[in-house]
Amino acid sequence: GDTLQEAAADRGLYFGTAITGSKLTDSTYETIANREFDMITAENAMKLDATEPQQGQFDFSRGDRIANWATQNGKQLRGHTLAWHSQQPGWMQNMEGSQLRQAMLNHVTQVATHYRGQIHSWDVVNEAFEDGGTGARRNSNLQRTGNDWIEAAFYAAREADPNAKLCYNDYNIDNWSWAKTQAAYNLVADFKSRGVPIDCIGLQSHFNPNSPYPDNYRTTLQSFADLGVDVQITELDIEGSGQQQADTYRRVVEDCLAVSRCDGITVWGVRDTDSWRSQGTPLLFDGNGNKKEAYHAVLDELNDG
Ligand code: G3I
Repeated sequence: GDTLQEAAADRGLYFGTAITGSKLTDSTYETIANREFDMITAENAMKLDATEPQQGQFDFSRGDRIANWATQNGKQLRGHTLAWHSQQPGWMQNMEGSQLRQAMLNHVTQVATHYRGQIHSWDVVNEAFEDGGTGARRNSNLQRTGNDWIEAAFYAAREADPNAKLCYNDYNIDNWSWAKTQAAYNLVADFKSRGVPIDCIGLQSHFNPNSPYPDNYRTTLQSFADLGVDVQITELDIEGSGQQQADTYRRVVEDCLAVSRCDGITVWGVRDTDSWRSQGTPLLFDGNGNKKEAYHAVLDELNDG
């Protein structure tokens, strides 16, 4: 294949990117996005603050712009994200208890219903575990509504859109020896054993010096897959440059190819200048839209690995 999406499709994978709707008028950006990727995640436009700015008043305009562009160009969509402690609208940030639980479930239901039939996979719950060595749940207003808030969100999402795959998504769950990884693994194992609807695990995979690509990444992917869920690499970016960055990208692709339930890879932005890491160069295209060494490493690995 000559493009990431073609080469990935030949291996049974999708290859995605995060999209910001306002950039679709930038022709360099739009051209690369359309040519290279077949799975689209809204970088911010489907989050809680964007979709329910006032309680009970939903605004799907920004999300729809991206969803429509994806549909018009024959691309699939990942939904990101229905329930999260961050980027909550102001009205939700100060809510607690059963009022918040109800508001969260209503949000899940309304948003998943609006996009019903359009979403390949939803990040139903994002980033519910704490960093560091405890493996504990993150202390958030959602967590304080009761430990079962995650499964409640998954049940609501399944009811609203029975055909979307439902994922739990997090960062720093890449290194198999980390407590946070084990905590996410135990959550998925528990849900599978009790019949809570869950179909996939999203490994964000934001690699940087504090959280480097781990040698045991493939073990992590395979261990989740062995629980009976699909594995998706959902927000890949790798700090660095040149050959070293390219080699790490290649290893990520190699690991996904080695695990049959690894569905696909999404990078978290198009060009380095589009990255949330404003000082870094963690993506596959430089600021001028040129293909980097990392791009060629990924394409080669998809074609010949
Ligand atoms: O749109 C407003 C603009 O009007 C305002 O003037 C400006 C001033 O700060 O902010 C703009 O919003 C920013 C938004 O990105 C759009 O650029 C927010 O402040 C900023 O917080 C937001 O950052 C996003 C971040 O999530 C927020 O948590 C990043 O774009 C986005 O890449 C990042 O994505 C997250 C995933 O959702 C979850 N995993 C980690 C990943 C990276 O942090």
